[in-house]
Amino acid sequence: METDRRRTTMRRVDYARYGPPEVLTIVEAPRPSIRPRTVLVRVAASSLNAIDWKNRQGRFRAVTGLWRPRTRQGFDVAGTVLAVGAGVVGFRTGDRVFGLLGNFTGGAFADEVLMRPGQLELVPRGLGFTEVAGLPMAATTAWQALFELGRLRPGQRLLVNGGSSGVGHFAIQLARAHGAYVTAVCSDRNADFCKALGADEVVDYAIRDFARDRDRFDVVFDVVNNRSLVQVRSALRRHGTYVGTTPTPRLLWSILTTSQAKFVAVSPRSDALAAIRALVEQGLVRTHVERVYPLEEIVAAHRDAERQRTRGKLVILLDERP
Ligand SMILES: NC(=O)c1ccc[n+]([C@@H]2O[C@H](COP(=O)([O-])OP(=O)(O)OC[C@H]3O[C@@H](n4cnc5c(N)ncnc54)[C@H](OP(=O)(O)O)[C@@H]3O)[C@@H](O)[C@H]2O)c1
Repeated sequence: METDRRRTTMRRVDYARYGPPEVLTIVEAPRPSIRPRTVLVRVAASSLNAIDWKNRQGRFRAVTGLWRPRTRQGFDVAGTVLAVGAGVVGFRTGDRVFGLLGNFTGGAFADEVLMRPGQLELVPRGLGFTEVAGLPMAATTAWQALFELGRLRPGQRLLVNGGSSGVGHFAIQLARAHGAYVTAVCSDRNADFCKALGADEVVDYAIRDFARDRDRFDVVFDVVNNRSLVQVRSALRRHGTYVGTTPTPRLLWSILTTSQAKFVAVSPRSDALAAIRALVEQGLVRTHVERVYPLEEIVAAHRDAERQRTRGKLVILLDERP
């Protein structure tokens, strides 16, 4: 839907209480006004991340102390710049951009969103908004986990536990582009998918337990978080690193007691987006979009996402034009 400039409201996904997907509604909300040092983006597409359904379920309320939801839905943005605030350099009205909103902010499941320039990059050349929308959170998480926390180097061995997931399918591609040897853990139905993304080896989690391997991996990226450093330590090489994506008590304990365990907390930064954009433009990284939902089907999209069977990404389309 193209936003009529004269309208003062826009569509936005909202939820007044934690609960099942049906707590989500589409409301008419005020359009954001441009402010200094911000960029106003008309959202063409976004994508679902686990944080969206976990926020909706109220999974973080004990940590945040928020007994009513405050964080908005949607973190990935792909769209067009509508206006730039005073003091912004590098972006102009009409630019096609993609970016990632902060973990405690959100708000991408809306026709328009205000962003900081440091959360944005120009879209990769030749890519449509649907594919771009799957990139920001999942690919940035993989990039920061592998290269900032895991310090993965060319020639090293990486294991991705959850190779077919949103984060995992980018991790395989990023690591391969970097010259690492990649083992992906996935189900039998996703083995060919992970190999096509560049995995050198696949391990069917129903048949083989990768944690029984000895002295094998320089980095274990546990996207599924069903393992711990203690369980995978023998599979890690000396000085190898275990990176998890969920701050479970056992991961936090490992971080406190060893230097081998890390937790990736994705941080919206344009340097990661720029690196990802370059790899996409070189044809080394692509988004696998499993399904596209119009905004009106947000409840169905959440239902599908929380089943955790998605291959690649689920995209939310806000602007029907290609
Ligand atoms: N800390 C952060 O900054 C951050 C950022 C992003 C994501 N995350 C977290 O990372 C996790 C993954 O997110 P996501 O969006 O990538 O997940 P996702 O796409 O929903 O994951 C679904 C995929 O996982 C696979 N899978 C399920 N169980 C598996 C198992 N036991 N072994 C291997 N693969 C398995 C499924 O394949 P099959 O159906 O074939 O099993 C499916 O392809 C979530 O917990 C999320 O909260 C954290």
